[in-house]
Amino acid sequence: MKVTYHGHSVVTVETGNHQLIFDPFITGNSLTDLKPEEVKADVILLTHGHNDHVGDTVEIAKRNHSLVVAPNELAVYLGWKGLNVHPMHIGGSHQFDFGQVKLTQAFHGSAYTEEDSQKIVYTGMPAGILLTVEGRTIFHAGDTGLFSDMKLIGELNHIDLAFLPIGDNFTMGPEDAKLAAEWLRAKQVVPVHYSTFPVIEQDPHAFADSLPGGVGKVLEVGESIEFK
Ligand code: NI
Ligand code: MN
Repeated sequence: MKVTYHGHSVVTVETGNHQLIFDPFITGNSLTDLKPEEVKADVILLTHGHNDHVGDTVEIAKRNHSLVVAPNELAVYLGWKGLNVHPMHIGGSHQFDFGQVKLTQAFHGSAYTEEDSQKIVYTGMPAGILLTVEGRTIFHAGDTGLFSDMKLIGELNHIDLAFLPIGDNFTMGPEDAKLAAEWLRAKQVVPVHYSTFPVIEQDPHAFADSLPGGVGKVLEVGESIEFK
């Protein structure tokens, strides 16, 4: 399995049989190496309804006939746009043909902003996503502030790789993400959701170096971690 970072919170997972993408915010993403019209995705995993996470979901899903896995209200909203969706909610897990997905809580908001009509569509609760594929567990925290139940998530799951936001302002900053990394007990921690916009500018290397035990790992845009 190959796990690749594409800027902001965009992460792809290539398994032996499936192409997965988390939070495919590509149009308007100043960091990404992807082009929306070239993305291949059997599955799109969404943490919440903010535009910098839903991103190009509709275009990618229509072209690839992707399955969109998302928190219920967001899934319903995208289902009305003609996508093939699988709604889930916090605490629930489901075994798919590509692997297992479980949603965790996240302390954040969840709404899609329709810029043209200046309308905000609320899409329920935001989530984190535990994805277990080919014997490895990846935790994509979504957008969240620090919360102490990350200790419980770390106790109940053996997380091989965690993607944690460090941008501050909208999510955890580096200091809180450092505590999150400790509580989640992940074997590797990759910072995300930074430096896409000026207000979330951060030094990912300073964050990664601050984590004890060498668990911090900065992935440059387009860089991968491979699991054999
Ligand atoms: Ni957000
Ligand atoms: Mn965000």
